[in-house]
Amino acid sequence: MRIGVVGLGVVGLVTGAVLADQGHEVVGVDIDQNKVKGLQCNRSPIYEPGLDELLLKNKNRFLFTTDYSALKDVDIVFITVATPTVEGKNYIGYVLDAAKTMKPYLKRDAIVVVKSTVVPGTSRKVKQIVEREVVANPEFLKEGSAVIDTIKPDRIVIGSDSKAAGDVIENLWSFTKTVVLRTSIEEAEMIKYAANSFLATKISFINEIANLCEVIPNCDVNTIAKAIGLDKRIAPYFLNAGLGYGGSCFPKDTLAFASFARELGEELKIVEAAIKVNEERPRRAVKIMEELLGELKGKTICILGIAFKPNTDDTRESVALKIAKLLVDIGANVIAYDPKAKTSLVEMVSSKEECVKRSDGVIIATEWDEFRGIEHMLKDKAVLDGRRVLDPNKMSRSKYRAIGLSKVR
Ligand code: UDX
Repeated sequence: MRIGVVGLGVVGLVTGAVLADQGHEVVGVDIDQNKVKGLQCNRSPIYEPGLDELLLKNKNRFLFTTDYSALKDVDIVFITVATPTVEGKNYIGYVLDAAKTMKPYLKRDAIVVVKSTVVPGTSRKVKQIVEREVVANPEFLKEGSAVIDTIKPDRIVIGSDSKAAGDVIENLWSFTKTVVLRTSIEEAEMIKYAANSFLATKISFINEIANLCEVIPNCDVNTIAKAIGLDKRIAPYFLNAGLGYGGSCFPKDTLAFASFARELGEELKIVEAAIKVNEERPRRAVKIMEELLGELKGKTICILGIAFKPNTDDTRESVALKIAKLLVDIGANVIAYDPKAKTSLVEMVSSKEECVKRSDGVIIATEWDEFRGIEHMLKDKAVLDGRRVLDPNKMSRSKYRAIGLSKVR
């Protein structure tokens, strides 16, 4: 088939590359000339394991352009443009613009697939604009495993008015051999938000249990999480207590979902609580450091890990940077080390050894593998293990705190 992908971020590039690898002719459209030029010269704008290889292997089947007229022969076109949260709301302007711009070029029977994360009702607006069949087909990929998640997703959700259009998209993804759910367009849009909000809630839930563990003797949240996770109804995933969730999805999607509900006169109280718990995490990290070191003004704090999670250079909504900002605001000197990510907010140093050596206190903010087994380096320092990578038995009792571990042991 001939397939169009509009918006060449993580979702668009991975979707296009995986479909090209299935033998389809794919044309990728983006308004960013530099991005398109780079892709034409085999330079991917993002790092995702396996993506470069797929792009190279299929370079004759996945073409890149800024010109929407290249969509003139496509059978299916995916909309994968960004849907940022602006003033707490899901901004769908780029989705609607893409729909308007592509319309004049589309074949009469082309199917438009909305993959961007959009609040219920958006794909129907797209349908009114393009006057073609529209399918809502949300993605659930995680950064760092986007290619694998696209080839082997847990499920595929296809929301459509027309059975025939839904069948075409179901058939397109049949190589994944995954469970397919056929739904209404609105249900498909809703599923994405409900899934992300539920996962964010799970994290905030365990983070509150972690807070409580810290003030009870002989308690470790990891033991609690492991035990409750063995209940199949709860499941062990997304129960790692820490400094909170960041990244390009959870913070923005939970906010957008909650405000979407409010506009309809409903309140998502649990989601709103999950947001609040998460927003309090950076302040809590600073408070723990203050308990360890006293006043932080003039002290040097080393932050280990600034990416929003390990194995990515992405710092969007990274909790580490929120902590860094709070520390800078109270007059601490902040230095940071990360194996991949960069920031101009604070001084970045080139090794964890240097970062620790120059500091009074250390906050481990991202669980990169290379931060495991460094207990010996941390002697004489005040340490907050915000992601539970250190062995508590190897740490000094007076200068070390860990998220979810009793203050008194
Ligand atoms: C997420 C969803 O997993 C994915 O399905 C959706 O499509 C996009 O958003 P991603 O943002 O790539 O993917 O990262 P994810 O691995 O889910 O982690 C999100 C954040 O939650 C990270 O900051 C991570 O550190 C945090 N997290 C995750 C925890 O604090 N505890 C956990 O147990 C799991």
